[in-house]
Amino acid sequence: MWKGVQAAPADAIFGLTEAFKNDPNTRKVNLGVGVYQDDDGNTPILKCVKEAERLLLDNERTKSYLPISGDPIYAACVQQLLFGADAEVIASKRAVTAHAPGGTGALRVGAQLLYKFRPQAKVWVSSPTWANHVGIFADTGFELRDYAYYDGETHGLDSEAMFRCLEAIPSGDIVILHACCHNPSGVDPQEEQWQRLVDIARKKQWLPFLDFAYQGFGEGVEKDRQAVEMMAAAGVDFIVASSFSKNFGLYNERTGAITIVSPTAAEAGVAMSHLKKTVRGLYSNPPAHGGLTVATILNNQELRNVWMGELDDMSSRIVAMRNALVDGLAARRVAGDFSYIKQQRGMFSFSGLDDGTVSWLRDNKGIYVVGGGRINLAGLTTKNIDYVCDSISEALAGK
Ligand code: LMR
Repeated sequence: MWKGVQAAPADAIFGLTEAFKNDPNTRKVNLGVGVYQDDDGNTPILKCVKEAERLLLDNERTKSYLPISGDPIYAACVQQLLFGADAEVIASKRAVTAHAPGGTGALRVGAQLLYKFRPQAKVWVSSPTWANHVGIFADTGFELRDYAYYDGETHGLDSEAMFRCLEAIPSGDIVILHACCHNPSGVDPQEEQWQRLVDIARKKQWLPFLDFAYQGFGEGVEKDRQAVEMMAAAGVDFIVASSFSKNFGLYNERTGAITIVSPTAAEAGVAMSHLKKTVRGLYSNPPAHGGLTVATILNNQELRNVWMGELDDMSSRIVAMRNALVDGLAARRVAGDFSYIKQQRGMFSFSGLDDGTVSWLRDNKGIYVVGGGRINLAGLTTKNIDYVCDSISEALAGK
């Protein structure tokens, strides 16, 4: 069957991890995949997760199926994180949530559901965006388009170009937005820019689909949800794909959720009926463990406090590494001003390193950066930062 079929290219992000693992260089550094590492280069299980798992193990009585949409207690926790416990959208039941296998699973379920009702719609992604957005929506069958986002000159948001594009998107199309900590650029709209964007969505009636994978890594759990809250207040239809891979460190438990918000509870109910039908055809019902772990933590004040502290520790260490990278490059008098990296948020930075430099760093120094120059700052440690800065300085010296 596969004779004569051309092999698919390695994944732009996970393919790098494979190459990194096979690299014999003893000083190698993985700045590719968006996975948190501590200062020893480990990706630890959070203390709150370990404790919640112990409680689950003691109290679990069955491995029977969950409902198609997952555990309702987990869904309630997801909604509280998304909107805040007292949000109108929760009280009025305008939001419905299903546990999905990770943020990617949530995006894919959403894509499949939307394709059933709007196969002709175009899906608009920011330029640039996370490579898998393109994969997910194109594989589902959608045609994709780009909207302006990142300005390579200023290393910030090209807001006027973005608004011009968003104003021109036809009603019924689907627009993928990064709720916070834009992947790959680390550049987010400011509060008033979000408001303008929400106003355009309402006026033009395209469907916002927010990818929310980094809540807590920007400016904290509450401030990071401002775009979601504004959408909810606007009373428009929208969808959120949540991921708890990063903020709970539950990468391999595939713990995410899809939340559909509608103008009325009745419409939300209809949405849920089709969401369930979609999930049933894809994987029937979700795996339990990750969702139960998140719900156990969020419903226990002590564990919730531990989680908030651990999340803060992770995001503070990333900020410290962001600063150390910029200061380290400046101290080496590397050509160019990298101070914009300090303004970017979340796990990633669009470093400004071109693809030639990215390849040179990988081939000569064992430093793995995603094509386009995206750096996972959480891969930097106090032990490898000098090596990375020296290597970038050497790479750029000839330019
Ligand atoms: C990333 O962007 O590196 C992460 O979100 C992991 C992934 O699934 O690509």
